[in-house]
Parts: sequence; structure tokens; C-alpha cells
Amino acid sequence: MSEEPLPGGFVGAAVRVGATVRKAPPADAVFVRRLLGFFAERGWSGAPRSLGVDEFGREVLSFVDGEVPWGAGAPPVGDEALAAVARLVREFHELTAGSVLAGGQEVVCHHDLSPGNTVFRGGLPVAFIDWDIAGPGLRVQDVAHVCWQFVPLGPGVAVVDAVRRVRVVAEAYGWGDLSLLVETVLWWQDRCWRGIEAGAAEGVPAMVRLRDAGVVGAVRSAYEWTVCHSARLGR
Ligand SMILES: Nc1ncnc2c1ncn2[C@@H]1O[C@H](COP(=O)(O)OP(=O)(O)O)[C@@H](O)[C@H]1O
Ligand SMILES: [Mg+2]
Repeated sequence: MSEEPLPGGFVGAAVRVGATVRKAPPADAVFVRRLLGFFAERGWSGAPRSLGVDEFGREVLSFVDGEVPWGAGAPPVGDEALAAVARLVREFHELTAGSVLAGGQEVVCHHDLSPGNTVFRGGLPVAFIDWDIAGPGLRVQDVAHVCWQFVPLGPGVAVVDAVRRVRVVAEAYGWGDLSLLVETVLWWQDRCWRGIEAGAAEGVPAMVRLRDAGVVGAVRSAYEWTVCHSARLGR
């Protein structure tokens, strides 16, 4: 069967083969397989199914039909879809809360929720993909990541829209503490650019690619923008 390269991934080279996706296994492949298996058992359709490993050692996942926004030209996610994203996050947080997979933490977090890791149908989110760095965590970590990536929070965004859309996310998820939410956005932005810089300095290929594409500077600017508007966003 033919292999069709999938656009959008910065980290690996995901390809589509028929109704499946093949990509390099994540660092903790055992955990991710268990998590996707858990979602399948519960009948939750918001994630791809884990279908094992192929003859080249690649992870095999079910292909989720729909549109994945890609590139700078992708239109922003509207308020209605944004609220639906937050509700979809709430769904898998509720499923994993108190489970063995949450490892004594609040929930299992996706840890990389963004439009490019979301499949939309008819303009609404139906699944999150790319669970490679999922792990036990705090609800606010995913909610903050959604704010950063989907609102989004950074230069070029009108503050009045950002303030409204952070509230759309918080209300749809059922998250009350806006100040902690914004603090956690800053935590993500700060650790993101530092992580890319450190990884690139060590020669990790994906991090070198990200740095060379200007992502360190862009995320630092987003951090500074969020610092600047944090009082209004978090009030
Ligand atoms: N299960 C899936 N169903 C549909 N499309 C997928 C699926 N997995 C990956 N893709 C497509 O491949 C791209 C890259 O995959 P992803 O898992 O996000 O890799 P990366 O780790 O490189 O970001 C995604 O942006 C999406 O377009
Ligand atoms: Mg991805």
C-alpha cells in the first residue's frame, strides 16, 4: 500500500497508509499505547486507536478523518469550536481522573494540545492526535496549553479578543481560577523556549529544526506578550 506523507508534524515524519498513520514511536510508547487502549475500552472517540507496531518498528494508529489545521495560513478556531475544544479536554480529563494511568496526579494530560494536533469535522473538534508526550498531570496544564495555542496568546492578537476567548475556554471547561490559568500559560511558554534552546544546543534534530525555524524567538515573544497582559487576562 502506498505511503502518503502527512503535513504538519514538526517532530516526526508521519505517513498515512490506508486507514492508518505510521510514525516513530514516542519516548514512552508503552504508556501511550495503554492510554489509547484505555480510551478505546471506554468507547471514547476523541483519540486515535493504537493498532500496534509495523514491520519497520513504527507506531500504527487509526487515521481520524477530518481536517487538521496546518501552517500559518490556517484560519483561527472560532469561539464555538474553541468551547468545544475545551469540552473535549474535559471529557478525557474526567475519564482519566482517578485512574491508574493518572499515577496519583489529577488526570492524564495530553501536554501538547494545539490546532495542529486536533482533527476537526464541520468546523468542530472531534479528536486530539499526537499523544506522544501525554502523561500524568494537572488539569490546569492542558487548559493553559489550550489557551496559549488556540486563543492564541501572543503578539498580533487583540487583547480584548484574548480576554474574551480565555473566558470561553475556562467557562466551557469549568475552570474557575483565571489567575492560576494565566500563570500556567507563562510556565508553558517559558519552559517551551528554554527546552527548545537546550535541546538544540545538545544537537537534538527536532529541536535544531524548531530553533532554526525561529520558534525560540516566537515563543519568547509570546511569553513577553502574556506577561505584559497577564493582569487583564487573569482578572
Ligand atoms: N491519527 C491521525 N489521524 C489523522 N491525521 C493524523 C493522525 N496522526 C497524525 N496525523 C496527521 O499527521 C500530522 C503529524 O502527526 P503528529 O502525530 O502530530 O506528529 P508530530 O509528532 O510530528 O507533530 C498531523 O498534523 C496530522 O495532520
Ligand atoms: Mg503534532
